[in-house]
Amino acid sequence: MADSVIEASGLMKAYGPIQAVNGLDLQVRKGEVFSLLGPNGAGKTTTIEMLEGLRKPDSGEIRILGMNPWKDESRIRRRVGIIPQGFNFVQRITPQEAIRYFATLFGVPERSEELLKLVDLYDMRKTYFTNLSGGQKQKLGLCLALVNDPELLFLDEPTTGLDPQARRNMWDVIRKLKAEGKSILLTTHYLEEAEVLADRVGIVSGGKMIASGTPQEIIDQHGSGRSLFVTGSGEVAEKVRKMTGSRCSFDGRHISVEIRENTDVPMILDLVRESGVEISTLQLREETLEDVFLKMVGSVEE
Ligand SMILES: Nc1ncnc2c1ncn2[C@@H]1O[C@H](COP(=O)(O)OP(=O)(O)OP(=O)(O)O)[C@@H](O)[C@H]1O
Ligand SMILES: [Mg+2]
Repeated sequence: MADSVIEASGLMKAYGPIQAVNGLDLQVRKGEVFSLLGPNGAGKTTTIEMLEGLRKPDSGEIRILGMNPWKDESRIRRRVGIIPQGFNFVQRITPQEAIRYFATLFGVPERSEELLKLVDLYDMRKTYFTNLSGGQKQKLGLCLALVNDPELLFLDEPTTGLDPQARRNMWDVIRKLKAEGKSILLTTHYLEEAEVLADRVGIVSGGKMIASGTPQEIIDQHGSGRSLFVTGSGEVAEKVRKMTGSRCSFDGRHISVEIRENTDVPMILDLVRESGVEISTLQLREETLEDVFLKMVGSVEE
């Protein structure tokens, strides 16, 4: 499609006996934030590295900005930015020096002040990399990914290890970059982060894309709507399962039931009351992306 910045189909990559990526398809549209989600070892980083041109797929097709990552590597390099997972760098270099160095390599104007202020790292501009905190290192990683003012960004777990405030700061930066029209492929283990940042998400499991779409589409397609969370007992859970045919779990104090019919709610509450359990907690909530994610990746055979 003309408006795609990333198109990949049938990607395969094995490391010896391990099939890390197993027929994965992915499309990222111009100007969108797309988040890859998946459990540890699902194949996200391997996929990103193939898209970046750092790893050669065993088979499959990739187009990045309409180009082939192997044949057009240097042309692509100038138009994309990358933060690798667990970003690390030369220990005795300061953020300011690092950004200036990258600008020289790319032959682009030096914007260290603007970039360091963007991620709130300006005060640390003269501190050696080795003395930066984990979160500050991540922020420098983002600055370096932005030196060449890329139109497409690959961010592999950019917020892992950040404190809650720094994570929100990173969200703001990502939103700002999106508002500038940049396209962003991002991985995260924080489902709520994907929900707030991503236009579309893809769930990767066992090297395959098992679902993709907007968070709401995934919830609608793979979720079961709402669930009721109420004080209960193992006995009540068993009765609810029999009467509704719905999934019902018991955590020792509360039961959690998928609600398919509205009329199930009063019926379940009656069952709880009849059992003599006093209701101290009662919550009816919409399923979140996290609920659906856990159900999906839990049900796939690795
Ligand atoms: N260089 C490598 N050599 C051998 N096996 C590898 C290599 N890199 C990754 N793997 C294996 O490939 C599989 C996919 O790993 P990958 O790093 O792509 O997963 P991921 O989805 O990024 O996981 P995480 O969420 O933990 O970062 C794993 O089983 C991993 O052990
Ligand atoms: Mg990874």
